[in-house]
Amino acid sequence: MKVQKMIEHAAQLAAKARDMRFLKPFAGETCAPPPVWLMRQAGRYLPEYRETRAKAGSFLNLCYTPALACEVTLQPIRRFGFDASILFSDILVVPDALGQSVRFVEGEGPRLDPLTGDADLAKLSIAGARSKFETVAESVSRIRAGLPKETALIGFCGAPWTVATYMIGGQGSSDQADTRLMAYRKPAFFARLIDLLVDASVGYLDLQIKAGADVVMIFDSWAGSLPDDEFARWVTAPTKKLVAALKAKHPHVPVIGFPRSAGIASIGYAKATGVQGIGCDTAMPLSLMAGDLARTGIVVQGNLDPLLMIAGGDAMIRRTHEILDAMQNRRFVFNLGHGITPEAPPSHVAELVKVIRSYDAT
Ligand code: CP3
Repeated sequence: MKVQKMIEHAAQLAAKARDMRFLKPFAGETCAPPPVWLMRQAGRYLPEYRETRAKAGSFLNLCYTPALACEVTLQPIRRFGFDASILFSDILVVPDALGQSVRFVEGEGPRLDPLTGDADLAKLSIAGARSKFETVAESVSRIRAGLPKETALIGFCGAPWTVATYMIGGQGSSDQADTRLMAYRKPAFFARLIDLLVDASVGYLDLQIKAGADVVMIFDSWAGSLPDDEFARWVTAPTKKLVAALKAKHPHVPVIGFPRSAGIASIGYAKATGVQGIGCDTAMPLSLMAGDLARTGIVVQGNLDPLLMIAGGDAMIRRTHEILDAMQNRRFVFNLGHGITPEAPPSHVAELVKVIRSYDAT
């Protein structure tokens, strides 16, 4: 890219970061205290979420009704004043919109009719996904209009690998064995599925950005299950393609990658994919976050244990201080290492935000 253009994009981001604390680390600043938001911050631990969820009937209906999706996105912002909100949706909206049957079974999680080969793939259509993607984009514009101007809005999608594990396996699993076997046995078919997901995700995130998302995040929840050759092929390469296509359209919009449980492979991912931020899961050592990961030059986000949101009290405060101490003078965003769970009392979240905002490193 021409140097002149790069300077213009950096200036555009810096101008936005003046009003939005969340964007400051992405514009090259270190903040004390750092910006904070929590994965799954709109969810069942909030009574007002449970009320709106009941009104919607099914979970997918909540995702596809802009007034309700907007309402649950704004709920945690009203309560806790996080620096960023995240669009309320799900990574499985993409297979659903493409035409695969997706259901959410109460108490069990998602269920899909598994793809077995090219005949199933032929039934999926990016053109057909357009109207559902536009419904989600309508949620994004409503949310942006309802947010305070200093609160950033994060759009998101699942990474091709993680979404593929649900499309092939038909449900969540602890080792993704069905999908890993499929990738070994039918690599050409699997590559076509991954390519379709890259293209669909580019279109989906492009619509979210045009509708008002300030940042986008790519959730790769099952990135940790692959050996390094397969990680390079199914995690790093498709993510790099997705990021390059997005940056060509929206050069100043930061992209955060979250290769969960990838451990030391996160460093290569941070360098190779072109993301501007990297999410760290609970098991990522603080020494690596503050050291090699921070030195890659991108923003580091994470990684308080979600169980500490249930425990609360001294254990939560002590670890929060450890994270803040370790990440001082780094371009850092405070978050959990994975989503907050339904058992977390909202009072502990309020306490966490207070502890972070009153942190004084001296
Ligand atoms: O972070 C947020 O607040 C935004 C909303 C969001 C949801 N899912 C809402 C949701 C986001 C970013 C996701 C991402 C997602 N969804 C991932 C990647 C991140 C991760 O958690 O690893 C994955 C793997 C999914 C797939 C998914 N969706 C599963 C496995 C489940 C069932 C498990 C569960 O927690 O119930 C869901 C359902 C889901 N997605 C819920 C919410 C609030 C709970 C459903 C309900 O309210 O009935």
